[in-house]
Amino acid sequence: MLKYITVDIKDLDDDTLRRSFSCMSDERKDRVRRIKKADQKKCTLAGEWLVRKMLSDATGDTPESFVIFADDKGKLHSNNSSGLFFNISHSKNIVTAVISDKTVGIDIEKIRPVSLKLAKRVCTPNELNYVFGTDDADFDAEYPPKVTERFFEIWTIKEAYFKCIGTGITDFFAVDALNGNFSKLKIIENGCIIHIVTL
Ligand SMILES: CC(C)(COP(=O)(O)OP(=O)(O)OC[C@H]1O[C@@H](n2cnc3c(N)ncnc32)[C@H](O)[C@@H]1OP(=O)(O)O)[C@@H](O)C(=O)NCCC(=O)NCCS
Repeated sequence: MLKYITVDIKDLDDDTLRRSFSCMSDERKDRVRRIKKADQKKCTLAGEWLVRKMLSDATGDTPESFVIFADDKGKLHSNNSSGLFFNISHSKNIVTAVISDKTVGIDIEKIRPVSLKLAKRVCTPNELNYVFGTDDADFDAEYPPKVTERFFEIWTIKEAYFKCIGTGITDFFAVDALNGNFSKLKIIENGCIIHIVTL
């Protein structure tokens, strides 16, 4: 079982965000209070609410009934979600959340112009081949949008993988985005690329 949802925070009313805040753990409330940017604050409130809604739809319990807490690496868990796993990601004003009966990670990125020099820090030779069509790319050259999209594809697979295993980004080269031993699902929506990884 795997379900995901994506929303633009502009489409969420203040009541929903207040409701999300009111059922957060004290630690999560403190985290929200510390976030300075209004949109980021909304993303964190929205993400947890989306998870609560999906867990509620899956189990029949109310959204407020789930106890959700972050572990020491920041990954969220619930001790009363009937064996369901979940994860959240946001990019700018878009938030996405996933629930699954398997350990799961999700990452979303707006597809936008970026310096492809980043690819050197993120991609293995095999992945560079996939992105640029060569493992000897000229990182200063101009490339068509498809190349940028493929770079974000690799990036989001890796982030979703590290979020799935719960470590956060450790070493981009420690995972093979194209042939790794995990399942991946790609979604393109609202100008964003999303990857969901399950073990
Ligand atoms: C976990 C990590 C991967 C989050 O990445 P991010 O892109 O900043 O954030 P996302 O929007 O995808 O995800 C944020 C959510 O992930 C969840 N999360 C936090 N730590 C997590 C972890 N260790 N494992 C899984 N999920 C985690 C949280 O729910 C968080 O949202 P919230 O606090 O608002 O509830 C981050 O710790 C990290 O390692 N960032 C490094 C990113 C980086 O170097 N990028 C450069 C690419 S070239």
